[in-house]
Amino acid sequence: MTRHFLEVDDLSCDELDDVLATASLPMAEVPKVLAGRGAALVFEKPSARTRSSTELAVVGLGGHPVYIQGLEVGIDERETAEDVARTLACYHAVLCARVLDHTTLVRMAGALDESAPGVGSTALFDEDSDGHDDGDRFPVPVPVVNLLSDRGHPCQALADLLTLRQVFGNVEGRTVAFIGDANNVWRSLALAAAMTGIRVRTASPEGYEPDADDLARVARLGGEIEVTSDPMEAATGADALYTDVWTSMGQEEEQELRRKAFAGFTIDEDMVGRAAPDAVVLHCLPAHRGEEITAAVLEGPRSVVWRQAANRMNAVRGLLAWLLGPGGGGAR
Ligand code: CP
Ligand code: NVA
Repeated sequence: MTRHFLEVDDLSCDELDDVLATASLPMAEVPKVLAGRGAALVFEKPSARTRSSTELAVVGLGGHPVYIQGLEVGIDERETAEDVARTLACYHAVLCARVLDHTTLVRMAGALDESAPGVGSTALFDEDSDGHDDGDRFPVPVPVVNLLSDRGHPCQALADLLTLRQVFGNVEGRTVAFIGDANNVWRSLALAAAMTGIRVRTASPEGYEPDADDLARVARLGGEIEVTSDPMEAATGADALYTDVWTSMGQEEEQELRRKAFAGFTIDEDMVGRAAPDAVVLHCLPAHRGEEITAAVLEGPRSVVWRQAANRMNAVRGLLAWLLGPGGGGAR
């Protein structure tokens, strides 16, 4: 079966452990699962960390990354998302995409499943001259990886787990207080936390809190989430404080509204002072100093944001090595 990575809970808890273990291997020990293969990286939104970390991870695995802007392929404008996916799967061992709408990823993954209609149905040559099927059947089923959608950012969550493990060793029973918008980054983090025994407290203004479906999904994984509208309450005694931008990509028209709604939800030194004495501060970045976090905290002694950014490359390398290795079913 083709394995996709659209959200952290596409992996089992044991598989997540395997991915993190692979991500923690020294570079020289990571199998070159992409040797001589391509990796398509489609971006419908801007990126500093995700593009570079994924490109370099692909190179580290022996592969060749091809960066493709969303406008260039024109998803659902020039041709359907499914046809873009099928086409790229003819050349690449994996399709990674940052999309405006999560359903685009779901459709791409659906088009590339082994069970999808037509996948593997067209042989380039019916048989080799020796009478054996040559195996060159198209479209080829390949994994699809979410490099951020409006619903989730699972590669970020892998890097967050690596960072928390590096800081705390065993993360089980630790508490992360997420202060801000319960959006894509929050969702993947909450699922990843549930799968690794991390407790999550979430402080969001009304209208920006986790919804019932999110809480149920986390609960099914055995996770614990406390939801409050009081950021100081959430921060008190927490082992880590985490935040994300108040206005995500694609929500620019809501910027003023959101600035008002999130007033009081800035991680500042007072809030850090309420957390545990050895607490660390995380941020997926990009940061807006003076909005979700102050410059003093972002650049202060408790901040691990640059380690977290650096871990993006380790995380995606571990993920791709696992996905294209025996654990994930191997490269096509
Ligand atoms: N954290 C993150 O995904 O950053 P970019 O948007 O710059 O890739
Ligand atoms: N929530 C942010 C995350 C950026 C990495 C966004 O979607 O823009």
